[in-house]
Amino acid sequence: MLKPNFKEAKKRTKAEIKVLRDEYIVSDEAKKLGINKKYFIKTYGCQMNEHDSEMISAILEDMNYTKTDDYEDADLIILNTCAIRENAHNKTFGFLGRIKHLRQTKPNLLVGLAGCMSQEESVVEEIINKYKWMDFVFGTHNIHKLPEILLDHINSNKLEVNVLSNEGNIIEDVPFKRDSKYKAWVNIMFGCDKFCTYCIVPYTRGKQRSRMPEDIVNEVKELINQGYKEVTLLGQNVNAYGKDFINRDYKMENLLEDVAKTGIERVRFVTSHPWDFTDNMIDVIAKYDNICNYIHLPVQSGSSKILKLMGRRYTKESYLKLYNKIREKVKNCSITTDIIVGFPGEEKEDFEETLKLAEECKFDSAFTFIYSPREGTPAAKMKDNVSLKEKENRLHSLNDIINKYAKEANDKLVGKVISVLLENVSEKDDSMLAGYTDTMKLVNVKADKKYIGKIVNVKITDAKTWSLDGEINE
Ligand code: 5AD
Ligand code: SF4
Repeated sequence: MLKPNFKEAKKRTKAEIKVLRDEYIVSDEAKKLGINKKYFIKTYGCQMNEHDSEMISAILEDMNYTKTDDYEDADLIILNTCAIRENAHNKTFGFLGRIKHLRQTKPNLLVGLAGCMSQEESVVEEIINKYKWMDFVFGTHNIHKLPEILLDHINSNKLEVNVLSNEGNIIEDVPFKRDSKYKAWVNIMFGCDKFCTYCIVPYTRGKQRSRMPEDIVNEVKELINQGYKEVTLLGQNVNAYGKDFINRDYKMENLLEDVAKTGIERVRFVTSHPWDFTDNMIDVIAKYDNICNYIHLPVQSGSSKILKLMGRRYTKESYLKLYNKIREKVKNCSITTDIIVGFPGEEKEDFEETLKLAEECKFDSAFTFIYSPREGTPAAKMKDNVSLKEKENRLHSLNDIINKYAKEANDKLVGKVISVLLENVSEKDDSMLAGYTDTMKLVNVKADKKYIGKIVNVKITDAKTWSLDGEINE
C-alpha cells in the first residue's frame, strides 16, 4: 500500500524536473481486462480534472474497455475527485453511497477513486476504514500507471492503494480521448508553488513543472491537423509557466506567441495569478487576434489585509492597477474572477472592500465561494471568526453585484455581430445550437445542425445574466 503523505507533498527541492517519455505501457495482460466490459467516469472539479478524465478514458480504451454514460451498466467505475472545498468531498462520498448496492448484483464490478481527494491522507484513511468494499485508489501523479494498478488489484483481490506524494515529474506520450472534436485542453504545466494559505492544490498536485515548449507546440499543431479550432492552455497558475526551467529563458509570453503562430483559430489560457502577469504578456494578448480576449484573473478578496493572510502577494491597489492596464490595452477584453468570502479574519469592513472592488471592476462574471477550511493548509489553523449565516449573507450580497454587472456586460452586446464557435445542440432548446464567443460568453443560436463545429458570425438578439441569444449573420 502506498498512502499519501502531506509532509512529503509539501516539500519543494531544487531537483531537476524529469520529462519521462516511455513510462506509459499497457501489457498484453492489461489489454485483456476490458474486453466486453464497460467503464464509467464521474468527474468533479476543475478543467484539469476534466482533462485528466480524458486521459483515464484513453488508457481504459487502450485496455479495450468501452465507455458508458450509465453507471448502472458499468463494469468499472472511477470517481475523478476534487478536494478544493468540503462540498466536493461530500459529493464524492454521496455518490459512493449511492453506488455501493450495485455490488450486490454485480460482484465483479470494480470501483476506484482518483484525483485530488486520493492525495489526501484523511480521505484515504476513510476509504481504508469505511469503504473496504472499494477496489483501488490512485492519485494525480500516477494516472499513467492505471493498467498496472488494476492488474495488481485483480491479482491481490484487496483494496489497492497506490498514491505518490513526490514533487512529480512530467509524463509525456500518454493518450487522451478528448470529449470535443472542436476544442481541446492542452496541459502546459502541472502543480503549483504559490501555497496560498487556503489552498490544497500545492499538496495534491505537487511542484510546479512546465512542459517543454516544443511538446506543447507540437500537440497544438497535431490538434490543428485533426480539425480542432480552439485550444485552452491549462495550468493552476499559467503565468508562472517556464519559471521552473533551468538554463532556459522561456516564459508564458513566449509560449503564447508560439502557440498563436501555429495558426490555431483560438487560443485560451487558464488560470492566471495576478502576481506573474507581465506587461509583455498583455502585449502579446493584444497583438494576436487568435489569442482570445478573455482573462480569468482571480482576485479572491478586495481587502489587502485578507490578501496578505491568504498569502496572495499582491494588494488591492496592485490588482486594480493590473486590471485597469489589461482593460486599457486589450480592447473588448472580458475579465472574470474568483472570490472567497468569510476567510478567517474577514471583518465587515474587509468584506465591504470586496464589494467595492466588485463595483469598481464590473467583472464580466465571477465564481464566488464561501471559504472552506482544508486540512493541512495554514489557513485551517487560523481562527474562523465568521458565522456560517454571515458567510451566506456575504455571498448573497456579493452575488447580487456580480450578477448585475454580468447582465450589464451582456446587455452591451445586444445588436452586435460576434463570432461564436458552435459546439453542440443547446441544453435549453434542441432547435438551437450553443457555443462561446472568444470572450467566453455562452450564446444560444437559432441555427441548423450543419453549423456545429464552425466559427460563425452571430447577431446578438437578447441578453440574460449568464447567456446570450442570437441568430446567424452571414
Ligand atoms: N475555500 C473556498 N474556496 C477556495 N478556492 C480555493 N481554495 C478554497 C477554499 N479552501 C477557490 C479559489 C480558487 C478557486 C479555484 O477555488 O477562489 O481560485
Ligand atoms: Fe491554489 Fe494559489 Fe496555487 Fe491557485 S495559485 S492553485 S489558489 S495555491
